[in-house]
Amino acid sequence: MIRHLLDIEQLDRADMTTLLARAGELATGATCGRRAGTVANLFLEPSTRTRVSFQIAARRLGLDIINIEQQHSSASKGESLIDTARTLAAMGVRAIVLRHPDNFAASGLASALVDGDVGIVNAGDGQHAHPSQALLDAATLAHAGFEWSGLKLAFIGDIRHSRVARSDIALLSRLGAAEIRIAGPEEFMPDAGELPEAMRMSEIDAALDGVDAVICLRIQRERMAASGYPDGAAFHARWGLTAERLAAMPDHARFLHPGPVNRDVEIADALVDSPRSLILEQVRIGVHLRTALFEWLIDAA
Ligand code: CP
Repeated sequence: MIRHLLDIEQLDRADMTTLLARAGELATGATCGRRAGTVANLFLEPSTRTRVSFQIAARRLGLDIINIEQQHSSASKGESLIDTARTLAAMGVRAIVLRHPDNFAASGLASALVDGDVGIVNAGDGQHAHPSQALLDAATLAHAGFEWSGLKLAFIGDIRHSRVARSDIALLSRLGAAEIRIAGPEEFMPDAGELPEAMRMSEIDAALDGVDAVICLRIQRERMAASGYPDGAAFHARWGLTAERLAAMPDHARFLHPGPVNRDVEIADALVDSPRSLILEQVRIGVHLRTALFEWLIDAA
């Protein structure tokens, strides 16, 4: 059976446990056996971390990986996503890692494919979902020593446009996090009733009070009109992670950001590379998580 990874909601507890445990093993030096076949990165939106880490993960497993970008593909000549996917499948590609600007692009593609064509990995679709980012964020927290029961987390910033927040909250709530808070400018908060697992808060200092970890979110400029983009300095003053705010958090608390970071907007420049930052650890663990993901995907076929 060809597997897909389309969103967090499709994963049962066994899948979540398998993927996180395997990423943890790989992050602490476990080796992986080689797999055969070709996979494709089909990125119709920019990416550094996700695209490159899937590429490194595939090579580590002995898979061939090809990179396809919008401007160099027949998508720029109007070829549909389904036709592109079927073309790749006909060439023997076993899995397509898809980044796409539209919500539900990955699940739409998977349901349009004939079963057995090719596996689809959602590498971020619109503001809907980014499941491999959520898994790597959870793996990073676990590797840093956090346990789910009792864990208090806050998400700060542009929640409304963030596929990372949606997937992270879906995963962390399923894993048993004790408390998840969200806070940001009113125009960046999700619609009422969305993300019911999270507690909505209206001030950053209250949202950070007593949390074990904070996940700062990038302002998704590409998903809003230019007129909606806030002034960076004003955003930082009201919603940024500053040295003072970090000092007020518990000593053990850490901060994350899916990247790319706008320094001095979401996080003070001087903090980004500080010892309490898990940002580069997210990137490092991301390679291990995506290796585990390819194993999970390909070994099921
Ligand atoms: N976190 C994330 O998706 O980063 P990229 O856009 O660089 O892949």
